[in-house]
Amino acid sequence: MKTLKDIEVSNKSIVIRCDYNVPIEGTIIKDNSKIVKSLKTLKYLIEHNCKIVILSHFGRVKSEEDKNKNTLKYVGQELSNLLGREVKFVDKCYGEKVKEFVSSCNNGDIILLENTRYMDYPEKLESKNNLELAKFWASLGDIFVNDAFGSLHRAHASTAGIAKFLPSVIGFLVEDELKNLDILINGTPKPFIVFMGGAKVDDKLPIIKSLLDRCDYLLLGGGIANSFLKAKGASVGSSIATNDENILKELNDLMHKYKKKIILPIDFTIDDGIIYDIGNKSIDLFKKYINSAEIIFVNGTCGKFEDERFTEGTKELFRTLKESNKKVIVGGGDTASAVKKFGYENSFLFVSSGGGATLEYIADKKLAALEWM
Ligand code: 3PG
Repeated sequence: MKTLKDIEVSNKSIVIRCDYNVPIEGTIIKDNSKIVKSLKTLKYLIEHNCKIVILSHFGRVKSEEDKNKNTLKYVGQELSNLLGREVKFVDKCYGEKVKEFVSSCNNGDIILLENTRYMDYPEKLESKNNLELAKFWASLGDIFVNDAFGSLHRAHASTAGIAKFLPSVIGFLVEDELKNLDILINGTPKPFIVFMGGAKVDDKLPIIKSLLDRCDYLLLGGGIANSFLKAKGASVGSSIATNDENILKELNDLMHKYKKKIILPIDFTIDDGIIYDIGNKSIDLFKKYINSAEIIFVNGTCGKFEDERFTEGTKELFRTLKESNKKVIVGGGDTASAVKKFGYENSFLFVSSGGGATLEYIADKKLAALEWM
């Protein structure tokens, strides 16, 4: 796969796909990490006097109303602040006016088009990888740079189809992600320990199975641990856990197959009969495995860390990981936010900017959008 350094970009018009799907409350961006991580590629393109046309999705668009809620306008302002340069925001992502505006811009200009998923209503053109739409976006530049790591598991018009119509390369962010995550795929140093937490087990079952095959121990927290406990017959009340009987059966089978590998928490913070976090004894138990590891992959948190009352388990886990001085790779949108929230963003070997993309890459060793490059 070609990277940015393999192609001459000087004085060219570049269409770049970023993943600016960031958490926003009102007009305030709660975590700008994805935007910050995109700066390296953008600065390189600025240094090479490119005209830069940025595409990104933001949330899901299933109605006219969703369009107002899911604008990239505030992302444009944040990007402009971070770059210290004007970012020309266009409140559309498709049509003759967009084409005319981009044509009227010069090298050195940075243009951010509105949310690509505006093209998902009324018809799902972006998400269904409509090639006419992909061709339109391709017509806005000479080269396509895919730097949207968090979106690479989606074969959409702006991540996949577009690559059919332009010389295409991956940007520095994607290159960095693949290089670091590859450590977890091929020749992973042993002992290889995985911590997995977060709410839902159903979506994560494929990655759990794939990792169980490859890791030495799988430590569990959050709703995922509750689901395993429930599958074992423990009473978890109305704590977050799957109700799907087939999945519970599968979890039970996994616990038989990997009896010694799956390590469940042993104490909890409980409120009103509901498990919200894991306790100190569980952290002490996990510490033994963490300290014996060569490399640790962390996905998910120990509990409901957004609530001040239930941050302890997650904080203690991060502290233990940092103090272990082991190689730690963190993946998953919420996990990265928690790492940042508690001040550990510079404590680990790598913090991935992807959520679903990170997990799919580690589980399947491939990403749908990259198949088009
Ligand atoms: C993410 O935030 O994980 C990515 O931007 C993908 O978003 P999506 O699940 O809406 O495609």
